[in-house]
Amino acid sequence: MQSRHFFNGSNNMRVLGIETSCDETGVAVYDSKQGLLAHALHSQVDLHVDFGGVVPELASRDHVRKLLPLVKKVLADSDSDQNSIDGIAFTQGPGLAGALLVGAAFAQSLAYGWNCKSIGVHHMEGHLLAPMLEENAPSPPFVALLVSGGHTQLVQVRDVGDYEILGESLDDAAGEAFDKVAKMLSLPYPGGPAVAQLAEHGEPGRYDFPRPMVNRPGLDFSFSGLKTYVLNTVQTELNESGDLSEQCKANIALAFQTAVVDTLRIKCLRALKQTGFNTLLLSGGVSANRALRSAMAASAEQEGYQVYYPRHEFCTDNGAMIAYAGCTRLLRGEHNDMTFSVKPRWPMHTLAGNPSSL
Ligand code: KG4
Ligand code: ZN
Repeated sequence: MQSRHFFNGSNNMRVLGIETSCDETGVAVYDSKQGLLAHALHSQVDLHVDFGGVVPELASRDHVRKLLPLVKKVLADSDSDQNSIDGIAFTQGPGLAGALLVGAAFAQSLAYGWNCKSIGVHHMEGHLLAPMLEENAPSPPFVALLVSGGHTQLVQVRDVGDYEILGESLDDAAGEAFDKVAKMLSLPYPGGPAVAQLAEHGEPGRYDFPRPMVNRPGLDFSFSGLKTYVLNTVQTELNESGDLSEQCKANIALAFQTAVVDTLRIKCLRALKQTGFNTLLLSGGVSANRALRSAMAASAEQEGYQVYYPRHEFCTDNGAMIAYAGCTRLLRGEHNDMTFSVKPRWPMHTLAGNPSSL
């Protein structure tokens, strides 16, 4: 059984979800009664790997190539067609402008052609609600830690659309810090999984990196100082030929990951204490990190709170979370009109349960 905590009404809705905000083309069909019916994902990692990061123009062009075949696939896999799809959800922002435009133009045109409703979804709301796709889904209220390549945010969630940002990164997002540290260690893009993999071979306690801002009150984050600390350590440890040994790289990767995980854990605990909630959700690409998950599980057991995540493949960008978030909003009577724009920068606090903000 899929969880449908937000779907108490008698209306049924089947939604096609489209995600194109960055380097993944994600498409899915979600049904408010039957749950997730199909999803498909194309990752552009191979396309960008030689450049060490996402090249926006290449990303947009690849979304153009992959979107239609993926939509055809999920429609076939879910036994859906234009008569059974009630609405189309697409990521309206934040993200790369050109990449967002591909998904938005496609979704709006299809909605016009099929004479159904469309809804622009906030990418981070998609991440935030991704754990709701799981069988063991949390019930609000809860605290959500959103940790992706572009965002690190602690959000108080009382209901869908009722979000209060409790704290966020003042500079680099946690995922961005992973990606930059990966470059310092000459690891391939995408950096987060590469750093995590290397950290498994690190010697615990070889370095002790700072936990930024944990000794100050508040729930904001800052990872740029930690990043500089890593850079300084790398420069100090270079051998005569200007390289780092593999063991030294692994030790640095582990110390960095441990510092990030510890910082996130301390701030989550603080947010739970501040709100009085006892449910924590983690989502976004960095929530796939195994060290983070085990630290949070140990802390939850010790402190007596519940912790929830999306399944591994829905931590990073995907169409299922957009279909789900769109479904919740469409069921509440929200939808876009036929004009459209994308919002490469879209502060999440502007959502605040206000349909007109969409
Ligand atoms: O949510 P996401 O797919 O895209 C954004 O919305 O940004 O997150 C991508 C980020 C990247 O920075 C990537 O390096 C990081 O998540 N990431 C990880 C892991 N898997 C992905 N960071 C640490 N450990 C991982 N296992
Ligand atoms: Zn994302």
